[in-house]
Amino acid sequence: MNDLTNNAVWLEWLLEGMHRAQWGLLRAMHVVGLVGEVDEQAAWPWRWRLAGENLLIDQAQARQLAISLLIIASVLVLLVVALWWKRARLWLVGASALALVLAPWPAAAVLFTQAHPTSFHVAAVPFSDHAIANGARLYAAQCVQCHGENGKGQGALASQQPVWPPNFASPLLWRRADGELLWAVRHGLQGRDGQQTMPAFAQSLNVQESWELLQYLRALAAGELLRATGNWPQPVHLPDMQLRCHNASKQWLSDWKNQRVLLVTADPQKLLPDPRMVTVWLPTQVSNTVPDTVDCAVTSVADARASISLINGSADVEQSQWLTDRQGWLRARNGRGIAAWNDDDLLCKSPTADQPVAALAVTPEDQLTRIIRTMDAEPVRFVKGGRVH
Ligand code: HEC
Repeated sequence: MNDLTNNAVWLEWLLEGMHRAQWGLLRAMHVVGLVGEVDEQAAWPWRWRLAGENLLIDQAQARQLAISLLIIASVLVLLVVALWWKRARLWLVGASALALVLAPWPAAAVLFTQAHPTSFHVAAVPFSDHAIANGARLYAAQCVQCHGENGKGQGALASQQPVWPPNFASPLLWRRADGELLWAVRHGLQGRDGQQTMPAFAQSLNVQESWELLQYLRALAAGELLRATGNWPQPVHLPDMQLRCHNASKQWLSDWKNQRVLLVTADPQKLLPDPRMVTVWLPTQVSNTVPDTVDCAVTSVADARASISLINGSADVEQSQWLTDRQGWLRARNGRGIAAWNDDDLLCKSPTADQPVAALAVTPEDQLTRIIRTMDAEPVRFVKGGRVH
């Protein structure tokens, strides 16, 4: 799940810098009225944008870009010096020009990619059980005939399309920027020959519904990937839910900031309180009381159950526990009621996770402690649409 292997911190900075520069430019142009809005957010005015996602794949080109940027910075310094130092001016300007010519500029085809007016849009609807449930209804009505029940592109009309609908049980939804997925849903896609491949839905769906569909697709895809591979190779959040807590100031899961959360369908009476995380009980029906052994109970029971079933890749969600890290990413699942955890329950890990789990286990400690240590030692570093999240 860790797209940024080799601890390429410089690359993370480069991608983030590229994103911020474009985002800042778009904001500024919007504020002064140079660009209008499409789908309720500032519209990117050009047909191209910088392609962080390409640089992630082609790190040699990314290095060239980084070096070229350093050269530009040095040239700027030289030129400022040249302003004051008259005698060396000719030399300094000459050296600057030479440096710019010799800089290892990356290939334009790698640096730029096609953009849409919504390329920089951010999801206007949270990843919540409610959004996912609404998305599910819309999907069944408008998308399933092509994309299929499981999102793998095997719908009844799939074979009649000019190209086969994609398989969402793949990294596709995690690679594309949210705004570009939104574009596909609302304004459709065309093949190279200009023929319409994915139809446009801007007439039949409003902007909010379009985002809800994308949140649903993410949950669906995570569950299908779990079924296919036995883990969550692409990171997925625990959806936001409505709660009733002993601490009355908390009414949503998202109100618990920076906390590990344990969602349980197991019998709450049998749980031992654990101060390392917030324990949230997901009952079968809305309950008016919150058992003493848990911190909160879910009140949006139907939607929460539907969305966790999806992400779980199976409707059997009884006697289970799901654990998130402090960023809210789902990391581990224990489907054996309140029985002890084991290392295989860690379903979202980085490629190097195997050694640290073993290495951390120098002192005898319970398996849940090991899972928590691994989670904390290896946070999810997730790059989407060429940007670090
Ligand atoms: C008539 C068939 C059809 C219907 C209905 C349909 N799609 Fe598609 N969809 C496609 C095809 C075909 C593609 C692949 C297009 C391509 O790659 O050029 C696609 C691609 C996509 C993609 C991937 C975009 C990308 O960036 O690669 C998304 C997301 C998507 N559809 C969402 C939806 C949603 C949501 C709905 C329901 C509102 C829907 N589709 C309804 C046929 C359909």
